[in-house]
Amino acid sequence: MLVFVPPHPLIKHWVSVLRNEQTPCPIFKNAMAELGRLLMYEASRDWLPTISGEIQSPLGVASVEFIDPREPVAVVPILRAGLALAEHASSILPATKTYHLGVSRNEETLQPTVYLNKLPEKFPEGTRVFIVDPMLATGGTIVTAIDLIKERGVDNQNIKVVSAVACPPALSKLSEKYPGLHVYAGIIDPTLTDKGMIIPGLGDAGDRSYG
Ligand code: PRP
Repeated sequence: MLVFVPPHPLIKHWVSVLRNEQTPCPIFKNAMAELGRLLMYEASRDWLPTISGEIQSPLGVASVEFIDPREPVAVVPILRAGLALAEHASSILPATKTYHLGVSRNEETLQPTVYLNKLPEKFPEGTRVFIVDPMLATGGTIVTAIDLIKERGVDNQNIKVVSAVACPPALSKLSEKYPGLHVYAGIIDPTLTDKGMIIPGLGDAGDRSYG
C-alpha cells in the first residue's frame, strides 16, 4: 500500500485552518473543499487515461492530449463529512460519476452502519474509484466502504482513498487488507483515543462542516 502526504504548502495551509478550533463552520467547510481539490489533483496525477492527437490552433497544428471520456472514473464521498472534501472533485475531473455512500459510526461501539448506498450493482469494467472521507480513525468506515466497492467489481489497484487526516490504526488495517491500495492524506496524526478521536486532529469533521 502507498500512503502519500503531498508536500505542498497549500495543503499545509488548509489543514492548519481546519485544525484551528476558532474556525467557524462555513470557513471550515470551505477549507475542507479546498483541501479536497488539492488532494484530488495529486491523487489523479498519472492515473487518468488520456487520448492524444493533433488539432489546429489559431496559429498552427498542435499535439494535444485530453482525458479519455470512455474510461470510467467514479467519486464516492462518504457522508456526511466526505461531501465537503469531495465538493470540487467533479469539476476538476472531467466526466466523473458520483456515487454517495452514507456511513455513520456509533459513538459508543465505534462500529460503522451504512444508512445510504447509491453504489451501482456493478461498476463498469476498469472503473477507477476515488473514495473521499476526511477522517481515517479506527478504519472501520473506510474498510466498510472499500468492501462494498470491491464487491461491485473494483480491484484494490483501481481504488484511491482521499482523506484529510489519517491515523496509524486505520492505515495498518488498510495495508493488511488491501495490498496495492493508494491513500492520499493531508496529514497523518499519531494518536487515536479509546473513544476513536484523532489527536490533535480536527474535531468532528461532520459537525464542524454542517453544524
Ligand atoms: C467520521 C468520519 C469518518 C469516520 C471515521 O464520520 O467522517 O467517516 O467517522 O471513523 P472510523 O475510521 O473510526 O470508522 P461520522 O461517523 O462521525 O459521520 P459524519 O461524517 O456524518 O459526522
